[in-house]
Amino acid sequence: MSEQMTQYMDNAEKVLLHTYNRFPVTFEKGEGVCLYDTDGKKYLDFASGIGVMGLGYGNREYADALKSQIDKITHVSNLFYSTPLYPAADRLRKASGMDRIFFTNSGTEAIEGAMKAAKKFGYTRDGVADHEIIAFNNSFHGRSLGALSVTGTKHYRDPFEKLIPGISFADFNDIDSVNALVTDKTIAVIVEPIQGEGGINVATPEFMKGLDDLRKKGILLIFDEVQCGMGRSGSMFAFQEYGIKPDILVMAKALGCGVPVGAFALTEEIAEKSLCPGDHGTTYGGNPFVCAAVDKVLEIYERDGIVAHVNEVAPVFEKCLNDIAQSCECVEAVKGKGLIRGLKLKDGVKAADVMKKGLEEGIVLLTAEGNVLRMLPPLVMSAAEIEEGCVKIKEILM
Ligand SMILES: Cc1ncc(COP(=O)(O)O)c(C=O)c1O
Repeated sequence: MSEQMTQYMDNAEKVLLHTYNRFPVTFEKGEGVCLYDTDGKKYLDFASGIGVMGLGYGNREYADALKSQIDKITHVSNLFYSTPLYPAADRLRKASGMDRIFFTNSGTEAIEGAMKAAKKFGYTRDGVADHEIIAFNNSFHGRSLGALSVTGTKHYRDPFEKLIPGISFADFNDIDSVNALVTDKTIAVIVEPIQGEGGINVATPEFMKGLDDLRKKGILLIFDEVQCGMGRSGSMFAFQEYGIKPDILVMAKALGCGVPVGAFALTEEIAEKSLCPGDHGTTYGGNPFVCAAVDKVLEIYERDGIVAHVNEVAPVFEKCLNDIAQSCECVEAVKGKGLIRGLKLKDGVKAADVMKKGLEEGIVLLTAEGNVLRMLPPLVMSAAEIEEGCVKIKEILM
């Protein structure tokens, strides 16, 4: 590593609040499915900015759409309409099968909005505001106080108690544990159909069916697809594979493929009794710049068959990961599906150390709870590039 890069990182550490133990690399640019650091070293990207860069780096059409929007206008208040707002919302409505869209600046803010939407629905329906929400152990929904309240990882929550009251935690994929927590006050269950940060845990069909059954009791389903949505699971949204539909859907990350945008979406039925003028708002959310990105991203997804591509390369990934698991002593299990994958490692080998070694070897990896090596490559990665990355991972783990 060059003297300049080390110096740069030292300088940055002096001014940035120390909320991350950053890995020692400074990235300068991306091209296709690769990143380049300031020394010009190339890295194959199996992280895509934690599931953000679905289209990879340097997509010309996407870049041109953003440049052209910058030349027109980047921001208009939500007191008015702007030209990219409706096409972006309409495309997202069609892609998700939901009815009403609210754009936010992040996944966390979309979670906040979704929780407020559920609470307001309960308030309108029942005339009281003391509703409860069921969330899951090992879930992750963001770092604001509201999102932390439903995040089922104790060490994230503990320093910030007391959080929002009326939240209880069930076990993922255990419908009995959910039913045991249901009370007359339960207004919603919030769940990631595939837990990301929690260790790449895929919901079983029986579990999702059990959650769907709760609807009969007037309980809303909030699906957080911030990480597993936008094609990563092999469907546009992971819930679509289960034949059920949420009342409220939360999205972000690859929705903007690099610009900060999230969204929550409601069915018409919920929207009618939920947030209305004065209940919720945002200055930046859904501004023309991010909506131009969302509109273009969804256009490219549809035209180029991004989800079909995920399904084409996913079996190659699966095969490579199974091969790694068979060959490498330290791998306990292969996790996930589509292009949201994990390798659970045995106690002796730390996923964070593997990630660090990966950087030395020119591959960007991620970790997740439970000593899982997490992989979220750009959705446009070719089968050959997946194989190339898996060879590197295997070499590191051998
Ligand atoms: C499932 C899930 N929900 C919510 C969030 C929070 O999103 P953001 O970091 O965009 O605020 C994340 C972030 O990793 C996530 O994975």
